[in-house]
Amino acid sequence: MNAPLKIGIAGLGTVGAAVFQLLEDNAGLLGARLQRPVTVTAVSARDKRKNRGIDVSKVKWHDDPVALADDADVDVVVELMGGAQGAAFDLVKKSLAAGKHVVTANKALLAARSGEILDLLKNSKGTLSYEAAAAGGIPVIKTLREGLAANNINAVYGILNGTCNFILSQMRSTGRDFPDVLKEAQDKGYAEADPAFDIDGIDAAHKLSILSGLAFGCAPDPGAVRTQGIREITSEDIAFAGELGYRIKLLGIARRTPRGIEQSVAPCLVPTSIPMAHIDGAENAVCIDGGHAGKILLTGAGAGGNATASAVVADIADIARGCADLPLLGVADPQKLESADINARTGSYFLRLTVLDEPGVIADVSAILRDCNVSLESILQRGHAPNQPVPVILTSHETLEGDMLAAAAQIGKLKSSVEPPHLMRIETFESGYVS
Ligand SMILES: NC(=O)c1ccc[n+]([C@@H]2O[C@H](COP(=O)([O-])OP(=O)(O)OC[C@H]3O[C@@H](n4cnc5c(N)ncnc54)[C@H](OP(=O)(O)O)[C@@H]3O)[C@@H](O)[C@H]2O)c1
Repeated sequence: MNAPLKIGIAGLGTVGAAVFQLLEDNAGLLGARLQRPVTVTAVSARDKRKNRGIDVSKVKWHDDPVALADDADVDVVVELMGGAQGAAFDLVKKSLAAGKHVVTANKALLAARSGEILDLLKNSKGTLSYEAAAAGGIPVIKTLREGLAANNINAVYGILNGTCNFILSQMRSTGRDFPDVLKEAQDKGYAEADPAFDIDGIDAAHKLSILSGLAFGCAPDPGAVRTQGIREITSEDIAFAGELGYRIKLLGIARRTPRGIEQSVAPCLVPTSIPMAHIDGAENAVCIDGGHAGKILLTGAGAGGNATASAVVADIADIARGCADLPLLGVADPQKLESADINARTGSYFLRLTVLDEPGVIADVSAILRDCNVSLESILQRGHAPNQPVPVILTSHETLEGDMLAAAAQIGKLKSSVEPPHLMRIETFESGYVS
């Protein structure tokens, strides 16, 4: 047996405590697989007295997590505190400067500061691994960087936020509205007290930018992801989408186009005939359109202590085997992301209007659509309530996103329009993907 690999864990919350426990529970199995013991020697968190359901009495405790970088008894620093600023970045920086290996699950840090991390890695004997930073327990980083290394990736897309997927699934299965289901998600621990990061699509945009960086060999740029969350989705949207043969999913999509890389996070209508439509609850799904390999769909738990710990320990296992030294973003010299204007995307759209039920409204709407080059595929209105607001659902034929947005904005200004129109893409993944 080789010398033990010594681990220091910074952050003992949901993920950190689960990593500590997993390394203890599966110590024998890991030792046999890796031909060396993996041992936690030091930990750090804010509150030493907090009961975390793990026994840290036999390992060294550092009040300051950055001290793990100087600890001679630590070979691998596992950063599980979170945040793009402060202790997390300081620890990564100092650990790499000290030549230690770093494992992190911190998507915010990677999405915002990969450029600085790449610079730090150039002058370090250490490595940085981040399997848990995108889609939690799903081994998507390994799949992209190793399993699909031969492929010129066309697109990577999927359901990247379990909280949103839980909310949308519950809305569909119970017919309840967004605020009610959000409260249930918070009560069950799927959503934070401040849910904005999840429900406004920011968390999914961070993950998408990391996947996109790896798929296309460029620095992640979450600012280049057009991001829309799920707050505006109503139970009516979900019911109408169902009638038309679709389910609504918050999708992160990054794809190669002749104009550059197009990236978005937005609620989309997905046909019930494809597997992505049936990923329900807090599950995640990532599809990689891998050129020669075809389409690969990975599904599983995108969050949660145990699943995320599995991904963190997979990175530790690579270090133990001596094979963690892969380029951070798959290529030695990542390029600046060439961002495509998403207004030039073509596809079909779903538009929900809330308009007064009065003569002439549909004629006004049709005129705006015609003037904006939008061709209607279908129009749906239920019930009749003279001079009262009613929902009207339109679907379009293939059209430019920019034209569709312009039409929606103009329709919103009509006197008969009582709420801003709600626009969503219809994503079939059949056309418009470079092959
Ligand atoms: N939760 C998930 O399912 C999941 C999935 C994928 C990725 N991640 C990522 O994993 C990381 C950790 O997430 P989490 O859910 O485990 O977070 P968490 O439950 O909030 O735990 C954070 C831990 O970090 C410690 N900490 C925070 N700031 C610190 C500081 N300045 N000094 C020392 N310790 C500090 C906290 O200490 P105290 O306990 O003493 O307060 C706590 O133990 C994040 O980057 C997150 O994005 C999480």
